[in-house]
Amino acid sequence: MDFVVTPWEVKGKVDYDKLLQQFGARPLTSDQISLLNKYAGEVHPLIRRGFFYAHRDFDEILKWHAQGRPWALYTGRGPSGPVHIGHMVPWILLKWFSDKFGLEVYFQMTDDEKFYDDPELSLRDTTRWAYENALDVIALGFEPDRLHLIVDTLDIKPLYPIAVKVAKKLTWNTVKATFGFTDSSNIGLIFYPSLQIAVAFLPTELRGETTPVLIPCAIDQDPYFRLARDIADGLGYPKPATLYSKFIMALTGESKMSASNPESAIYTVDEPKAVKRKIMNAFTGGRPTAEEQRKLGGNPDICPVFHYHMLLDPDDASVEKIRQDCRSGALLCGECKLRLYEKIERFLKEHKERREKAKDRVDEYRLSVKLDIKK
Ligand code: TRP
Repeated sequence: MDFVVTPWEVKGKVDYDKLLQQFGARPLTSDQISLLNKYAGEVHPLIRRGFFYAHRDFDEILKWHAQGRPWALYTGRGPSGPVHIGHMVPWILLKWFSDKFGLEVYFQMTDDEKFYDDPELSLRDTTRWAYENALDVIALGFEPDRLHLIVDTLDIKPLYPIAVKVAKKLTWNTVKATFGFTDSSNIGLIFYPSLQIAVAFLPTELRGETTPVLIPCAIDQDPYFRLARDIADGLGYPKPATLYSKFIMALTGESKMSASNPESAIYTVDEPKAVKRKIMNAFTGGRPTAEEQRKLGGNPDICPVFHYHMLLDPDDASVEKIRQDCRSGALLCGECKLRLYEKIERFLKEHKERREKAKDRVDEYRLSVKLDIKK
């Protein structure tokens, strides 16, 4: 195998079709996309453009919806550092689903997972990052009745009884084979999958009726939800449905961004100067000289700058024009980068204002805080 994808690492050039076969998830078909169109009245560009490209039971949960039955959304974040634009992309789709279908969102902040996983981070650090990262989620425009934040170490109470039942169904053998744990993995990491799986069953417990979740996330999280689906029946819970994205390209051109190189990603708190510098220094699919590029054209398929235009520009015609003008050599990388900078800066300016307003409001969104109020 010339690439490796696990929930903790992505190495090599990812073959996304092979990965599906490996995991046993399904490609998203045009019939399924039409079904979404039927119920949502439109299809989000991130799905239309194939960035979200695979799933488990996505069509089933839409049919469930069509019968007027309850469902919810679930996703999460490992809070180990600042949020970058790449993290925001799937959350933009999350917000879209929540708005289109009137769905509640369960959002897990795994401060425990990141503490177990990273020898450099203290638990205090990861819990702080959970609060910090929550600002970016809230800034997408969620109201507290729609978004339920679960910071694992703080909001464990409603989750723990479910995690306990999940843990009893998972053997060491299974988790070892699924996640590649070894004899020297700490036992926190080994137990942790029970918690990520437990949230998929939480809405059913809280509502006291069968409430499946749709989980939009990157394809590397599939191992958790494959296990969740295997054990759901035996616990009397509905199987979660999933919708999987590819990875966001790093500005350096690699398949996935790495937290170790801050120049490879644009953070939501970056100042305009830094945003500009990172974009202007990015790897591109262009030619070594302007002259060659005018003659031969560039390659948008391998270009992170084009990738971000594709992810962030809602206007299909505008994205198509950039693609064609790149290929023909009419558009040079400098100009293309400047346009991207303007798009991102416009987004970030508003985002930062909303993020600022979310400060001191995180607790209003925390699930266990809300449950205590209700009691
Ligand atoms: N394990 C994920 C990460 O490291 C965080 C997470 C928790 C998550 N629950 C999730 C991601 C559900 C996607 C969907 O980022």
